[in-house]
Amino acid sequence: MTFNFDKENHFSAIANSYQNLRTTDEEPIAYILENLKSHKNLDIIDLGCGTGRYDVLLLDELDDDCRITGVDANQEMLDEFSVNMKLHRHSDFHAVSSTIEEFPKINSKRYDVVLSFNALHHFNLGKLLTLISQILSPNGVAFLFTRTRNQNQRSILGKYFPKFDYYESRLVSLTEMENTILDTSGIELSEIKVFKYLRKAKLEELVLQVNNHHYSTFSIYEKEELEESIYDFEQLLRYEFDNSSQISWIDRNVMFKIVKSRRRFELDNS
Ligand SMILES: C[S@@+](CC[C@H](N)C(=O)[O-])C[C@H]1O[C@@H](n2cnc3c(N)ncnc32)[C@H](O)[C@@H]1O
Repeated sequence: MTFNFDKENHFSAIANSYQNLRTTDEEPIAYILENLKSHKNLDIIDLGCGTGRYDVLLLDELDDDCRITGVDANQEMLDEFSVNMKLHRHSDFHAVSSTIEEFPKINSKRYDVVLSFNALHHFNLGKLLTLISQILSPNGVAFLFTRTRNQNQRSILGKYFPKFDYYESRLVSLTEMENTILDTSGIELSEIKVFKYLRKAKLEELVLQVNNHHYSTFSIYEKEELEESIYDFEQLLRYEFDNSSQISWIDRNVMFKIVKSRRRFELDNS
């Protein structure tokens, strides 16, 4: 079951503060850099780019002749993307206002590198993978970074925040991702890379993030339900951890590396 929420309002409301609310890890960018055959003259696209916080990290390490297109459905997030690019002195960028689902109608280009960070669960997965198969250049590579349903269940919110796992039903499982890639002609899964991070925070920092809806999941809750859940979350954490100023846990993410299919004959779907 997928729960509805006002996606447009959610992202408009947090666009300004988004980068401070979320943790930006460098390891996924290091992995992408290691897996790119060249760091020169690349056409890059980020689907659901948001503020482009990962894109600037990547572009900072690539040659200046690389170009990036950020696609996002939310104008406020895209505005932050443009600000961020300029702040990092990356002038060769395009900010495209479109949903991923509508993007094929306005795009005829191919890209050497296709990226998507923390956005898969907002898209129609089949349509996203079909789009990737259409826009990936023959030697291109796509990197899709997300957390799986299982990884979400094992996070601090999944374990201790009431109904967080129940409401967060949009995340994919490894099997669903593998099968949907298999069902998409023209691309294949090259690698699955798992990331693990030891996190530490104060209880009040965790509560502040929730109050600011750092995950869109919190915009699914009714106001009163969210307040009660925050109260229960605080009580549970105080009970579990001796020191509420030093709460520690492990976060996990996954990167799917996808390339053009090397299969000589595609199986048809019949
Ligand atoms: C959780 S944010 C991630 C932003 C960024 N990739 C990051 O990791 O910081 C998800 C982004 O996807 C965008 N988005 C959601 N649904 C979309 C869709 N169908 N097409 C394009 N963008 C979408 C939202 O506006 C938002 O900026």
